[in-house]
Amino acid sequence: MSPSRQPPIDAATRLLGVIGHPVGHSLSPAMHNLALERLGLNLRYLAFDIPPEQLAHAVTGMATLGMPGFNATIPHKEALLPLMTTLSPEAERIGAVNTVLLRPDGTRMGHNTDGDGFMTALRESWPGDLSTRRVVILGAGGATRAILDALLHAGVAAITVANRTTARAGELQRRFGAFHPNVPLSAVPLDPLALPLEQCDLLVNTTSQGLHGEALDAVDLARLPKTAAVCDIVYGRETPLLRTARAHGLTAIDGLGMLIHQGARAFQLWTGETMPVEPIRLHLQRILENRP
Ligand code: ATR
Repeated sequence: MSPSRQPPIDAATRLLGVIGHPVGHSLSPAMHNLALERLGLNLRYLAFDIPPEQLAHAVTGMATLGMPGFNATIPHKEALLPLMTTLSPEAERIGAVNTVLLRPDGTRMGHNTDGDGFMTALRESWPGDLSTRRVVILGAGGATRAILDALLHAGVAAITVANRTTARAGELQRRFGAFHPNVPLSAVPLDPLALPLEQCDLLVNTTSQGLHGEALDAVDLARLPKTAAVCDIVYGRETPLLRTARAHGLTAIDGLGMLIHQGARAFQLWTGETMPVEPIRLHLQRILENRP
């Protein structure tokens, strides 16, 4: 690792951070502090465990301390919306904020960099024309919204959202169909008969199935075209879905790239600088490999 150009902590050092509840497993401090060190910036990044009832106080406190901004994770992403002065178009459509820019004049700008992070990571592993690609998204939870918005915004050929609770997929179809009327968007149950896997170029799993090694029984990857890509937003362990995708010779993409690129976009919003992505990827991989 190259020697640090970063000034030592002094009276001019300012603070960035992530708020969550819990937040103990967040990789964001490791990611952002390495980037700050590499770029020689006089900032440090910490994780703060903030219970939901303390959120408004925490935001006021961070602004009072002169923090340039912060990240937010579960359970604060939706609750931040009414605490913002302005929202980016993405944050407004998605209905969640993961990055806040705090201005000296007291303005609080809410952004959502998750969709951008997903798209950048996807394009790294799976370049090419998106306008002919048909997508199936599994799941309809919080993580689905940013990915769905980004893929609709990118102008893919069609998207099917499949969820165990079909009504939740239907809610996403109504909400995001109104924002992006030009891309056909359908909602189906997470059922082998309803999943259009033979007509799927990109399969994205946003459900929590696989996080602890569970299989997604409804999804038979042998039905996908041989050129398809399979993406799972879980990182740090290979899910059965991605293992099977690799075994079938399909492009398999895990969630580490999305994590890094949502962070890189946030970093750019706060500092105006480009995060050094490759050393960070190696650093996070090493941390994840050593986790019990
Ligand atoms: P997040 O905000 O992290 O996306 P969430 O809102 O709890 O979390 O959503 C989790 C997703 O995983 C949902 O789509 C959920 O399906 P339901 O809406 O039917 O609950 C999905 N999920 C969780 N356990 C599942 C299981 N055993 N089989 C299939 N889908 C599952």
